[in-house]
Amino acid sequence: MGARDRGTGEYPIRGKMVTIADDRGHLMIRRMEERDLVRVSALIQNTLLVSNSADYDLEIVGNLITAFSPSQLRAIAKKRRIYICEENRAVLGTIGLEDNRVYNFFVAPDRQGSGVGRELLDFVEDRAMKKGWGKLSVASSLTAVSFYRKMGYVRKGEQDNETYGRTVTMEKRL
Ligand SMILES: CC(C)(COP(=O)(O)OP(=O)(O)OC[C@H]1O[C@@H](n2cnc3c(N)ncnc32)[C@H](O)[C@@H]1OP(=O)(O)O)[C@@H](O)C(=O)NCCC(=O)NCCS
Repeated sequence: MGARDRGTGEYPIRGKMVTIADDRGHLMIRRMEERDLVRVSALIQNTLLVSNSADYDLEIVGNLITAFSPSQLRAIAKKRRIYICEENRAVLGTIGLEDNRVYNFFVAPDRQGSGVGRELLDFVEDRAMKKGWGKLSVASSLTAVSFYRKMGYVRKGEQDNETYGRTVTMEKRL
């Protein structure tokens, strides 16, 4: 993941600049790199606690928090493209894409509702279309089902996992 620039110690940043609807400024969407692991893990774990604990019991939230530790995230990133949205180096959200499925999609609670999630989802839908995939699907948290519906996804089924709880399969034709 991302080689350092010789001399400066900086990583070259390649990504997509986006301007969100409420005109808060420019955001950058780029691949997650090794140096981002701790911040991205913290964002996911905090969002699980703040946003998802209304829909899942504490044991499930605890299992998910463990599943998104920095070391687990590093392992996940070996098989999945993980993208982050950042503003002035602060991570606002993250999304993963593996085959034609969306994973690990989280926006920091204090930035939810400001268009960051839409930008991240548009970004992976665009990538999926360029790959010629006809559809995208996601095992949506109960928390996010109405968000996906708004984004044009339709419900395809529901599953219950003892460790990670109930999710709803949502799908969109691209
Ligand atoms: C789901 C999530 C990623 C959406 O990100 P977000 O940045 O809040 O979404 P946006 O601000 O881009 O919302 C886009 C539109 O959807 C609407 N929206 C957002 N969340 C919504 C919800 N739960 N129900 C209905 N509409 C919703 C917004 O109002 C906005 O509508 P508008 O364009 O008319 O203003 C974010 O809320 C989140 O992290 N949730 C908790 C974690 C989670 O459950 N993730 C999903 C795992 S599968």
